[in-house]
Amino acid sequence: MEQTLSIIKPDGVARGLVGKVIQRIEGLGLKIGAIKMVHMSRFQAEGFYAVHRERPFFESLTAFMSSGPAVVMVLQGENAIARWRELMGATDYRKAAEGTLRREFATDIEKNVVHGSDAPETAAFEIGYFFNRFEIIA
Ligand code: CMP
Repeated sequence: MEQTLSIIKPDGVARGLVGKVIQRIEGLGLKIGAIKMVHMSRFQAEGFYAVHRERPFFESLTAFMSSGPAVVMVLQGENAIARWRELMGATDYRKAAEGTLRREFATDIEKNVVHGSDAPETAAFEIGYFFNRFEIIA
């Protein structure tokens, strides 16, 4: 059993895509171990995306991620990290495979609706950023 962090970003929440995204997650057979809405401060968004601090899109990304409420979830199941990333599709929606969430819903490389951890170490950091262990249903 593996865990990953999933975010429905502020664009996804604002556009009323929460139900659709959750339906696809459940359809994939991943279990939601924890879920909540957060409206990140700029400081929280900067901490979450600290690995991207030197990237040219960092300012814009952290402004976007703190622009409105997002839904954060812990997803659980076999190969949860890879399976959630496959369902999301490539970061750039123009390169995302047919049938993926980003291909279907994203409008922009930044406003790409969803986020997922890319490795077990990042998943541990990202889950711990939003949830303590008592909030996660095993
Ligand atoms: P995410 O998977 O959350 O990881 C980093 C985020 O930075 C990415 O999704 C996009 O929202 C955003 N981003 C903006 N521009 C780029 C870019 N050129 N390359 C990668 N990520 C970008």
